[in-house]
Amino acid sequence: MIETPEQQQSKSVEPTPRTNEVSKAEQYAALVHSRRSVRKYDADTTFDHDAVQRALELAVLSPNSSNMQLWQFHRVINSDKRQQLAKLCMGQNAAKTARELIVITTTPYKWKQRTKMNAAQVRQAFEGREDATSKRALKYYEKLIPFLYRNDRFGIFGIARKVIVAYLGRNKPMVREVSKADLRVCLHKSTSLAAMTFMTAMRAEGYDTCPMEGFDSKRVKHLLSLNSQDEITMIIGCGPRAQDGIYAERHRVDNAETIITYA
Ligand SMILES: Cc1cc2nc3c(=O)[nH]c(=O)nc-3n(C[C@H](O)[C@H](O)[C@H](O)COP(=O)(O)O)c2cc1C
Repeated sequence: MIETPEQQQSKSVEPTPRTNEVSKAEQYAALVHSRRSVRKYDADTTFDHDAVQRALELAVLSPNSSNMQLWQFHRVINSDKRQQLAKLCMGQNAAKTARELIVITTTPYKWKQRTKMNAAQVRQAFEGREDATSKRALKYYEKLIPFLYRNDRFGIFGIARKVIVAYLGRNKPMVREVSKADLRVCLHKSTSLAAMTFMTAMRAEGYDTCPMEGFDSKRVKHLLSLNSQDEITMIIGCGPRAQDGIYAERHRVDNAETIITYA
């Protein structure tokens, strides 16, 4: 029997049976444990570039602030370009030996377009049943987002916003991160989550990755002809792991120091 979109949707949100949950949790734990930052890739093993595309198509499903999707993923496959880019990654092995490099950027200047897109999406989703929720969602995209995302070169708007929220927040809870610098952090948070989804997906494909922040951002932007307002969150090298691709045992500080519980 063919299901209506509503039936399909309600099915997709049904809770997973508990027994499956355990095995999925185990599978996921195994995946997370097997991901390492790999600094050397095997030049002789075949590498399926389609796996990168698949992993990126999962990465864009990552949670992101206000669903603005102010990100881009630049795939550098071409060998010459890759070697030029590897040099700008300070000649790191993880870049030099990578079979493909992904430059993840934030695209702040697209905020107006994305605001319109989201507002239109809300209108469409609530068509014929406008209520308090839809009004709130529209107000969010038509009033609050422009208030938060509009910036000038010197960050004056952001300073004004800081003063406003400090005043309004005297007697009630208020989001305080409203400056131009805060917005940059906000965008890099979302791109970082996408980076993590990408790296996990690549591991699931049987490949490895290394996130890098050691690069000359000015020259990389020039090499890829990026928009002057683009900011590079990180560059990820990927490929099939070389036998000596992991430099050391994984180590983390004690969980008790980093996982704080308020029971
Ligand atoms: C934002 C970020 C930037 C990083 N930059 C580099 C880098 O430039 N070069 C490098 O070799 N590793 C880099 N790493 C990898 C870390 O060194 C690595 O994740 C850490 O040592 C833990 O090892 P693991 O990923 O194998 O668990 C970076 C990781 C992150 C999250």
